Amino acid sequence: MAIQFTEDLLINHKGLDDHHREIYIQVKQVLSAYAQGNGEFAALNLMSFLERHVAKHFAEEEALMKLYKYQNLQQHQDKHNQFLRALRDLRAEYTETGPSMHFLVQFNQLIMDGLVLHIGREDKQLGAFLKNNPDYISQQKRAS
Ligand SMILES: [Fe+2]
Ligand SMILES: [Fe+2]
Repeated sequence: MAIQFTEDLLINHKGLDDHHREIYIQVKQVLSAYAQGNGEFAALNLMSFLERHVAKHFAEEEALMKLYKYQNLQQHQDKHNQFLRALRDLRAEYTETGPSMHFLVQFNQLIMDGLVLHIGREDKQLGAFLKNNPDYISQQKRAS
């Protein structure tokens, strides 16, 4: 699967789009590190990066959804929480067993399903909602 941050992924929110772009960059780096045999180190780096930033990113997205009364807030939030739980579980596994093959496979699956697919699906749906939301549109106009 090619990892490319393309225009159609933009949700028209500068801060959140920047986060998504950064996440794509980080994921791409990990995948190329896997290909070069440096996967363990790269996975650990990405895990730490996500632990530092992703909860805040999710919270910002959720605040936006609440503010504009997004109808899929609950489902979207469930996905975020699932991701955070899985990340915590993987950290615990890593602490216990180190970078085992099981850990790397699970971590890889988490970043593909929980981040790359999530940005291309749930976050993109949020973008489509915002694009058609008159309140959001006028707020954006005022801010620019
Ligand atoms: Fe997001
Ligand atoms: Fe999201």
